[in-house]
Order: sequence, then structure tokens, then C-alpha cells
Amino acid sequence: MSILSSSLLLSVCILCVICDDPPGHMQPLGSHMPPLLVEETTKFPDPITFYDDYVYRNSPVIFRGIMKETEVFANWRYDSYLRERFGHEEIGAENGKKENRTATGELFKFSAFLDRYNTSDIYMVGDMPLSMQEEWSIPSFLICGGYTENLAFINVWFSSGGTKSVLHTDSMENFHCVVSGRKVFVMFEPHYSEAIGPEHKNLGYYHIDVDAVDMIKYPNISSIPWYKAVVNEGDCLYLPYLWIHHVDSYGRNMAVNVWWIQFEFDREDCQSMEHRPGFAPINQFSISHELQVKHFLLELKRPDGSIHVEDVYEAQKNRNPTGDALSLDNVKTLFDKLIPGCNGVLHESDFRGDRIKIDNYRDVLQYVSRLMEEADGINRPPPNDAPPSFDAPPPFDAPPPHDNLPPYPHSNYPPNEEGFPNDEVEGGGDGHPHQHSHAQDEL
Ligand SMILES: *[C@@H]1O[C@H](CO)[C@@H](O)[C@H](O)[C@H]1NC(C)=O
Ligand SMILES: *[C@@H]1O[C@H](CO)[C@@H](O)[C@H](O)[C@H]1NC(C)=O
Ligand SMILES: *[C@@H]1O[C@H](CO)[C@@H](O)[C@H](O)[C@H]1NC(C)=O
Repeated sequence: MSILSSSLLLSVCILCVICDDPPGHMQPLGSHMPPLLVEETTKFPDPITFYDDYVYRNSPVIFRGIMKETEVFANWRYDSYLRERFGHEEIGAENGKKENRTATGELFKFSAFLDRYNTSDIYMVGDMPLSMQEEWSIPSFLICGGYTENLAFINVWFSSGGTKSVLHTDSMENFHCVVSGRKVFVMFEPHYSEAIGPEHKNLGYYHIDVDAVDMIKYPNISSIPWYKAVVNEGDCLYLPYLWIHHVDSYGRNMAVNVWWIQFEFDREDCQSMEHRPGFAPINQFSISHELQVKHFLLELKRPDGSIHVEDVYEAQKNRNPTGDALSLDNVKTLFDKLIPGCNGVLHESDFRGDRIKIDNYRDVLQYVSRLMEEADGINRPPPNDAPPSFDAPPPFDAPPPHDNLPPYPHSNYPPNEEGFPNDEVEGGGDGHPHQHSHAQDEL
């Protein structure tokens, strides 16, 4: 055999081996095809434009460098500053910078975290302490029209870099700003959630190894387009409701995000105020974890707007495949805590105005966390069945925040922040679920 033909044979063989594997097989997520790029801008939109161009269209966007002029951006980049101002605060951190939702969490003094974060496999993830909220601010295009009426979480993410989230969805609108370091988001449109893999439906995340995607197990992925968002320090990303994403972080890495629920958008409210590009202190708005209850229930409404105890029972059971689910009677009690005597049926109109008060939602959360404690024994080691949630708003059976704060709030949540099938959203497939299916839009 000539050298030419044997080398031809050899290259054909190599090609065969390569061809056998689908694109991206056992490679990092996103290797299967070149990315589409997320829209980016250096402009500061007015609140109505932000709504029309991005929120309404369920369309992500990066605001390049908008934080760079803020004081917090200058200050929080220094460990010495953080130690001096917030060293006494208690914060939650997760063990394992590569998320797997079975790792444990721990509480640290912020100063102790600072001592260790460069040399340990730990990741600060959780509610921003109130003293930090006094310094944090959000862009002025978020301060009217209802964006801040339903703020459910403000979180801090801090590590020495090298964190990797699972591929997952969050069930709220997300505004994510990087103070230091860089984050890279690998994103898929919401309507691909079923095509990517079946486990999403109940878990809200995938078991995919983001460092080495098994394309034999997840064959559809190799043909699904993905978006890449590189978020550098000083940038903020608007990540819409239900977009599927995985996040890598690089360098000393600090980021802050808010999760909010977008109900109707009040244009007049925004028209009536003068819009100036700038930032507004976050501590003038109230942040209510309790709102996740409202959100969870509204997502389960039937086409006629009614919300039934059986549907809620089923949804939370699917979400907690390993136990910890409530009984039908428990869920009935929960309905009565919202509207006494409602007989297991609520209507979306019940959620308008202030018929159901924040206190009612708080009662529900407290009731649920009490049931969980009883089920597990009071001395449940907090972090153990504690699927961490990296980019995940804790789902609706989160323990009550503030007064009654259990160790590390993110710790005893079930491994799912979405937690319910979302056929209406995924069925549309036009990438614009807000237009006809985002439950809140109709309120
Ligand atoms: C999840 O991550 C933690 C922390 O890194 C590790 O101890 C644990 O073994 C991991 N679990 C699985 C199932 O990979
Ligand atoms: C591939 O996508 C189809 C259509 O969405 C879905 O029904 C199927 O379950 C997916 N296959 C796998 C293995 O996830
Ligand atoms: C951790 O490392 C970063 C650089 O990556 C440095 O800026 C920071 O001061 C270090 N912090 C501590 C406490 O060593």
C-alpha cells in the first residue's frame, strides 16, 4: 500500500470516529454549534422602551458598562471594603463551585468567607444582607410601571471564579449585574425545554454535565441553537423569565441579581415621571420572598382563570419526587389561609389588588416550612437535603425569611425553582410567551 493510500485510509478512519459522535459530544455545553449573540447596548433605555423591546418580547439584552459610574461598583471590588463594611454580616455559601444541587451549604460571617474564598471550593450565594442593600441600586428604567412592585429576591453571588451552574430555568424575571470578574451565560430559548431533555419538566434543571455533554443521552441538543452572553464587570444582563441557562464565572467574581415578577405594565405610571438615566437605591423598594407563592399559584390557573387545589397538589408532588410533598388536605389548608372558605378553588381575580395580603402569603410559607420540619424531625441538618440553587429563586416552599430565618435560606428547598409544567409557555414556541401566556400579564 502506498503511503498516500494508507494515510488516506488513516484519515478516513479518524473521520469515521469523529463522525460517529454527534457534534459537541462530551465537550462543554455550547460546543455543538457556534452561538447566536445576545443583543447588547450601551444606551440607557427609558422604562417603556425597556418593557416594549425586551420584557414584553421575552428577549435578553446586555447593558454594557452601565454600572461603571456607580459608587458600589468602585467599592465592592475590594475585599478590604467588604470586610470593613459587611464583615459582621452572616451570609450563606455553598460547598462546591460546580453546582450539582446535592451539595451542602453553610453559614459564614462575611469576614470568614473572605478569609477562605480564594483557597476553598466555596461559593457565596444568597440573600443580600440589609446593610449591603443600603448601598446597592438599580437602574432608573426599573423604578416605575410595576417592575419593583413585585421584587421577590435580591441575591449576591461571590467566589474566586470557576463556578459552574447546572443548566436550568428560573421562573422570574432576572436582572443580573456583574461587579467584578466575568460571567458567561449559555442560553436556550424557553420553548426548547422539552427538546433538551425530559427531566426539566419536574425539576426545572437538567442532569447534564455542563463540562462534557452526553449527546447520546441528549441527542436533540446538537441541533438546538444557543445564545452566548459574555457579561463583564460593570455590565448587567436582563435574562427573561424561563430562558434556559448555564453560567460560568471567571476571576474574582461578584454579581448581584434581582428576581421580580412582571405583572401588568403600568405605562401611565412611567409616562408621568421624568426619566433620567441613573440609579435608584434598592432599599426604597420592598423585597418579598412571599410573592413566590402568588407566582406559583397563578402559573397553575386553568384557561377560565380558576386555580384548583388538585392542580396545586399535583404540581408540588411532581416537584418533590423524593418525598417532602404535601398531602391534599395540607394544600386545602393552604388555600384557606389565602382566602378562608374558598373551598379549594381560587380565581385569578382574587389575586388582584390587596384582597390577599402579604401576611397571608407569609402564613402559607410558614405553614409549609412547619410541615417540612415535622416531616423531617426538628433537627433536620439544614444543608443536607439541601439542593443549592445557584441562579435559582427558591421555590415556593422556601422557609420564611427575616424574623424566623432558618440557617441558610436556600438550603432546604427542593431541587427545583420552576417546579411546574409550563405547557402554555412552551407550547407557543414563538419566543414571546409574554404576549399570551405569562400569567401575570392578564392581571
Ligand atoms: C456535589 O458536589 C459536592 C461538593 O463539591 C460533592 O461533595 C458531591 O460529591 C457532589 N455530588 C455529586 C452527586 O456529584
Ligand atoms: C427530542 O425532542 C422532542 C421534541 O421536543 C421530544 O419529544 C423528545 O423527548 C426529545 N428527546 C429526548 C431524548 O429528550
Ligand atoms: C483573593 O484574590 C483576588 C484576586 O483574584 C484578590 O483581589 C483578593 O484580594 C484576594 N482576597 C484575599 C482575602 O486574599
